[in-house]
Amino acid sequence: MSVKFSVKIGKIEEETGVHVIPVYEDLISDPPIKLSEKIKKILEQVCGREFKGRIEETYVLPTFLEKGPSRIVLTGLGKSSELELDSVRRAYGRAALKIEEMKFSSTYIPIPSLPYDIDLTIQTIVEGILLSLYRFDRYKSEKEKQALEEVYFLVEDESKTGDIQRSIDLAEKICRGVYTARDIANMPSNDCYPEKLAEMAIEVGSRAGFKVRIYKMDELMEMEMGGIIAVGGGSNHKPVLIEMEYDGTCGGDKPYVIVGKAVTFDSGGISIKPSEKMEEMKYDKSGGAAVIGIMEAAALLKLPLRLIGLVPCVENMPSGTAYRPGDIVRFRNGKTAEIISTDAEGRLILADALAYAVEKNPKVVIDLATLTGACIIALGTHASGLFTNNQQLADKIMKSSEKTGEKTWQLPLWKQYKEQIKSDVADLKNVGGRPAGAITAAAFLSEFVRDAPWIHLDIAGTAYTQETSEQKSYIPKGATGVGVRLIIDYLINELKQE
Ligand code: BES
Ligand code: MN
Ligand code: ZN
Repeated sequence: MSVKFSVKIGKIEEETGVHVIPVYEDLISDPPIKLSEKIKKILEQVCGREFKGRIEETYVLPTFLEKGPSRIVLTGLGKSSELELDSVRRAYGRAALKIEEMKFSSTYIPIPSLPYDIDLTIQTIVEGILLSLYRFDRYKSEKEKQALEEVYFLVEDESKTGDIQRSIDLAEKICRGVYTARDIANMPSNDCYPEKLAEMAIEVGSRAGFKVRIYKMDELMEMEMGGIIAVGGGSNHKPVLIEMEYDGTCGGDKPYVIVGKAVTFDSGGISIKPSEKMEEMKYDKSGGAAVIGIMEAAALLKLPLRLIGLVPCVENMPSGTAYRPGDIVRFRNGKTAEIISTDAEGRLILADALAYAVEKNPKVVIDLATLTGACIIALGTHASGLFTNNQQLADKIMKSSEKTGEKTWQLPLWKQYKEQIKSDVADLKNVGGRPAGAITAAAFLSEFVRDAPWIHLDIAGTAYTQETSEQKSYIPKGATGVGVRLIIDYLINELKQE
């Protein structure tokens, strides 16, 4: 994250350089920013003509002024009646990409008057810029150096600098978590297998300030984590369970526990997947990646709460030691499941992790998982599936969803669905047939959370960009880091209520 943000006291008319001005499509000659008549005249040359103010549309306008902006980057907000926070994130993200493309090293951002608190406006602008500039270039021999180095928020009123600085800091720390989640999820499976993921978690923990414990095979056996052991059995890379803890309280508070599926590669195992798009299954660790990113952001922000992150981590491979269809597995809480498909592996590793999570006497349990293709069939790639046993909690998450633009949509978890996952020979079976596949997977998980308030997020459609994903400036191709901003926003709101 190589952009430096700072606050500058001054007026647009007096600062030379590149300035970003947002414009509504339907208020094209009246940008939501205080401008001199002279600058308004300049904008009139293109506004409503070459530049329409559509969402994510940009236009770079040289001014030829001797004093004041040398260039104005116009960025479209779309229609004012359709404005949402995400429009702001997208508009400033797109402007940043444009500025980067033009190889400018710095830019001014006069603070716009939008229908949001100034803190939230700044936070959203910083998110848009940082997230759009993310690049995964670890495996490129020639790395392009980022041109944009400095962003100045331009304000006239000195009394606001403290607030602005705080919003910048908040957004930077959240984005650091998103970057980590994207980096991990984008890693190829030959370089990111369970033990490697564990090392990465340890490294993030020591940097951000949270504890990390790794449970390896022998401990997993002692802990009777039959799901993780079965799924991990087919690979030469042994499975691990990563446990992370950050305590920002005086100690002993009930923890928020977040659980993330990390299948470093999902070949399907013995029930092997077709080869088409199988390379995308490196992203099957996105839930776990998000949990590590959330831990990092929460610790950097020093949130005054207790947070436990659990990441069951396996590679799902076919081999002579792999688990098979027909096998019966026993989980940590004593329940058993008959394996119908070794490709329905996520729920098996989550079962152990969730059973372990509820032993922590949690306040809330949230899991994130690229769990089912069926969730993509149901909702497409625009929203994560949301499932819960606690409507109040779901409402809070959905509120954060609106604010962060990380869309979620609730699906029912009626008891009737449980019929589909009853087995003749074990307590459960791991596949409930084609109908309502995302729901029966969630119903399977619900067997392991007892009565803890619980949310399951199926991020199969949102964890990485796919053919039908909406193109957004701040979401480059590949892993999106979905879940980090959502859950951090939820946690911050929790603190406001107490
Ligand atoms: N990791 C996949 C789900 C997935 C599919 C994520 C596409 C992202 C994109 C999961 O482990 C899986 O294979 N699920 C099966 C379940 C089925 C065998 C009941 C599926 O969705 O086909
Ligand atoms: Mn699978
Ligand atoms: Zn999977």
